[in-house]
Amino acid sequence: MDNTVRVSKPYNLAAIRGLVRDAFTGDELRRFCQDRHKFRPILDHFGPSFSFVQMIDAVIEQCQVHALLPDLAAAIEEANPRQYERHLPHLFEESSSPRLNGVLPSTGTRDGGLLPVPTAPAPPAHFVDRQAELTRLVSCLAAGAPTATTALQGMGGTGKTALVKKVAAEAAGFFPGGVLWTTLGPQPDPFHILASWAIAAGGDVRSYTDLFHRAAAVRSLLASRARMLAILDDAWEYDCPFLLMQNALPANTSVLVTTRDADLAKQLRCRVENLDVLGEKDALALIENLIGLLDPY
Ligand SMILES: Nc1ncnc2c1ncn2[C@@H]1O[C@H](COP(=O)(O)OP(=O)(O)O)[C@@H](O)[C@H]1O
Ligand SMILES: [Mg+2]
Repeated sequence: MDNTVRVSKPYNLAAIRGLVRDAFTGDELRRFCQDRHKFRPILDHFGPSFSFVQMIDAVIEQCQVHALLPDLAAAIEEANPRQYERHLPHLFEESSSPRLNGVLPSTGTRDGGLLPVPTAPAPPAHFVDRQAELTRLVSCLAAGAPTATTALQGMGGTGKTALVKKVAAEAAGFFPGGVLWTTLGPQPDPFHILASWAIAAGGDVRSYTDLFHRAAAVRSLLASRARMLAILDDAWEYDCPFLLMQNALPANTSVLVTTRDADLAKQLRCRVENLDVLGEKDALALIENLIGLLDPY
């Protein structure tokens, strides 16, 4: 069991992006994730027709969420030492702020593994508009019941995660209790998620070994905060998001779930918003933004 608190200098995400781009081709990046058990779950976040840039974004995003950037850098150092050496001078931010890897410092957990404190990741630098969807989502969530429990549903790769990152940033002003960000994925671990929520609220529920008791303890910790927005990104199954929504979040919390599964969105009793692929104009703007980012330094 690894109970260490891992605090390191924050990574420069543009430099990490450049390192991944230069160290691999698309096929190599896929194989790299496939061959390493820590990174294998990231493959579930690749859409069927992802470009290389989209794959890199997904890898970096998942490594941020799961505090795996140091592991990513170490694995690339092993796989492609020449490119690692070349990028090394740029890999860390100059500032000595206490943030870790784009999330706050990790804390050891008796459930095993390292626990990132769940703050919302920043929207992608190349984010394009989606203004209508963004305004609608923010105003529904901010308005409170009955629109405050919303699911954003759409095929993999349509931009749900990118959009809700933007929602998190835009809606923050309406939620003085903060924005709680959780990536669920196909096999979420509710014990682990609840422990990280407790840490975000300044508490510790790791002594609760019964799931429902742990959820209740988290709810009483969160209840002392002002109104919050909880984002449950990438729901695949019912039990974990249902437990979190039903048993762990205070009643006045606004909840935004994202999922590919339209039935699941309804089962969770959410108001459902569908997200379609980007329109032609926005898709062109996205390409322009990406070209603008090609030289990251
Ligand atoms: N509005 C947008 N602007 C810029 N990039 C976007 C936008 N929407 C999606 N993307 C990019 O497309 C890829 C897939 O988006 P993502 O949000 O992960 O899809 P989903 O969550 O629906 O599977 C990511 O690389 C993301 O950065
Ligand atoms: Mg997603």
